[in-house]
Amino acid sequence: MAAPISPAADLASPLKFAYWVPNVSGGLVISTVEQRTDWGISYNRTLAQTAERLGFEYALTQTRYQASYGASEQHEATSFSLALLLATERLKVISAVHPGMWHPGVLAKFINTADQLSGGRAAVNVVSGWLKDEFTGFGLPWLEHDERYVRTDEFIRALRGIWTRDDYTQHGRYYSIDGVSLRPGPVDVPGRAHPDVFFGGNSSAAQATAGRVADWYFSNGRSLEDYADNVAGVIEASRSGDRSAPAAPRFGINGFVIARDTHDEAVEQLREIVGNAHRPAVEGFQRSVQQAGASTGDRKGMWADSSFEDLVQYNDGFKTGLIGTFDEIADRIIEYKKQGVNLLLTAYLHFQEELTTFGEEIIPRVREREAQLARENGVEFRDDEAAEAAAA
Ligand SMILES: Cc1cc2nc3c(=O)[nH]c(=O)nc-3n(C[C@H](O)[C@H](O)[C@H](O)COP(=O)(O)O)c2cc1C
Repeated sequence: MAAPISPAADLASPLKFAYWVPNVSGGLVISTVEQRTDWGISYNRTLAQTAERLGFEYALTQTRYQASYGASEQHEATSFSLALLLATERLKVISAVHPGMWHPGVLAKFINTADQLSGGRAAVNVVSGWLKDEFTGFGLPWLEHDERYVRTDEFIRALRGIWTRDDYTQHGRYYSIDGVSLRPGPVDVPGRAHPDVFFGGNSSAAQATAGRVADWYFSNGRSLEDYADNVAGVIEASRSGDRSAPAAPRFGINGFVIARDTHDEAVEQLREIVGNAHRPAVEGFQRSVQQAGASTGDRKGMWADSSFEDLVQYNDGFKTGLIGTFDEIADRIIEYKKQGVNLLLTAYLHFQEELTTFGEEIIPRVREREAQLARENGVEFRDDEAAEAAAA
């Protein structure tokens, strides 16, 4: 049965679509199943150009320094994102960055340049990290779970401060910034105060931090029921009076899409991916992610309740249930919109082919349903934005 519409839902605006840049080997699943996804730059340039043509607004490049979960080779996120920005015209490319690895001033400077080179299309996803060996391997401190979010909070405030003010000063537990002005700053884009700050995490500390400082809150794949908890936690924190961003946070969720002509074919494809799971890599990943939500007091958070099968898609993308026919998937996406989702982050087995199908078959179905949902609720749907996104 369809769930009621959350007060957080924005029925007037079209959903935005993003995809994970496959910048690490092995695609987005920890499985030896045959897949045609390639992690090289040539494949990724074509993919990015296809995505912007079909109405995707964002691409997200993950950050990974060393082999993990079967991803034995990785391209660095900020440089790879810049290459994709230079190969496209409208796509906004989000680089994942760890506060423990970057100084916020150095990152702000890098993004200023990337933003200038791309006409205002650079963005960041600030991730607090879970892979302890990457930090200790570099001789960097490994903070306990909730303390990582204290650092992230300071990091994002520093980015925003440097991007929007001159002579910026901030002294905290992790960063000291004294009278800093960076020239040139980011591009002046109407409706954007500075490059978008996304934020990833599921735990209570993550939700609270996102509510205080993020423009966009990204969660891993979640069932519809569980997702309501994430939205509520972030909104509550955003009203605490300590929010550093001018606008309310917006919401993005990860989902792994398996769209096939029949429901049974889609389910069979999922079975094949999971049946060919790279067991030692999934089990190694399962051990590493104990550093995430499972290590907190309330044991809530990313991967805390994930099964072996869930972890085969390492951002819990199967949990979102975007598995079935084009119509079934479009219906399900609308249910997430009704729970407050503003942006759907997608991944696929065969990226180039399946992202194309998603753009050609599923986005138009979502647009029709969004217009109908708005009508039924007496809301004016800004379909000019939808048309623009589709034409883009
Ligand atoms: C959409 C999304 C993208 C993420 N990308 C990365 C990444 O590129 N690199 C990384 O180390 N962690 C990434 N993370 C994980 C975060 O670093 C963090 O460890 C995780 O969200 C911890 O969640 P918790 O607060 O529930 O423990 C991502 C999380 C989300 C939701």
